[in-house]
Amino acid sequence: MRNLAAVREDDLNRPKGIQRMRRLPDPKLGALWDSIILDDRLKAQLISQAMLNFTLRGKIDRSVIPLHGVILLVGPPGTGKTSLARGLAHRTAESFQGGGFRLLEVEPHALTSSAMGKTQRAVSDLFSQSIAEAAAGGPTIVLLDEVETLAADRSKMSLEANPIDIHRATDAVLVQLDALADQHPNLLFLATSNFPQAVDAAFTSRCDLVMHVPLPDREACGRILKECLSGLGKTYPAIGKLPASPHIERCAAECVGLDGRAIRKMVANALASSPQTAMNPERVTIEDLLAAARAAKASRTQGGKTP
Ligand SMILES: Nc1ncnc2c1ncn2[C@@H]1O[C@H](COP(=O)(O)OP(=O)(O)O)[C@@H](O)[C@H]1O
Ligand SMILES: [Mg+2]
Repeated sequence: MRNLAAVREDDLNRPKGIQRMRRLPDPKLGALWDSIILDDRLKAQLISQAMLNFTLRGKIDRSVIPLHGVILLVGPPGTGKTSLARGLAHRTAESFQGGGFRLLEVEPHALTSSAMGKTQRAVSDLFSQSIAEAAAGGPTIVLLDEVETLAADRSKMSLEANPIDIHRATDAVLVQLDALADQHPNLLFLATSNFPQAVDAAFTSRCDLVMHVPLPDREACGRILKECLSGLGKTYPAIGKLPASPHIERCAAECVGLDGRAIRKMVANALASSPQTAMNPERVTIEDLLAAARAAKASRTQGGKTP
């Protein structure tokens, strides 16, 4: 009986626009949270805001504090926003010792349709049916990844370039957010955007916290690089020794300007610096890392083109 219900919930009965449903806490998401290097104060602020959502909203009238249950993470691509949002869902559930929390992941792109009026309808159904039902069943966290697709800035839209359908979809999101905020204090949206200027101002104004996730600074670059090399060291012990090299700080300095994803990919590029190293990654050197970091930065400053 229980198994059947689990299968239904996770796979068969997945409503349109919901990419994934999972029970929280989920230790894998905890590991994801820990893997993202970010100022501890920012991480603590995120956890506190998410906790407050579930302690306060059921008890305090919205005329006192008009919380909507929305946290928005904005920042350049590759800075860990999606990972942080998933990890935060886990950490929040963990703070309430489970409590029957669930995480729904919305796939905004699956909702947009070329047929006029369909997107608005899909958005309304998703919020008023699927999400409302989940929230009625227990504490629910919803990941709205790349929310600019759903809540696009209406003031910047030309009707030729952007179909009126998207305009209506943004309206639908706002209407539904207000309705859900009223009826479901056990609901928290975690939204992310790489392009905050593309998110509708009325959406941003409904967010209880907008946090800017920055590019890693010099120290954070060093920590990401070292953790990446140590992770590889579990399989390739010689790579695990590189963080102790006296030249590792030069590599870290060379990474400033790259996002966290780019730093980890740069390490893969260094492992691919020659066919011999690719066949035997333990041959990678600090010089390979320095060269790969320089190349990654150069391609970035030239708008993605390699020099
Ligand atoms: N601050 C960071 N610290 C460590 N790793 C990071 C960081 N930012 C990004 N990464 C790496 O990049 C990957 C992609 O991050 P993601 O959460 O998808 O970023 P975003 O949603 O901002 O584009 C992560 O899984 C992680 O490996
Ligand atoms: Mg993302």
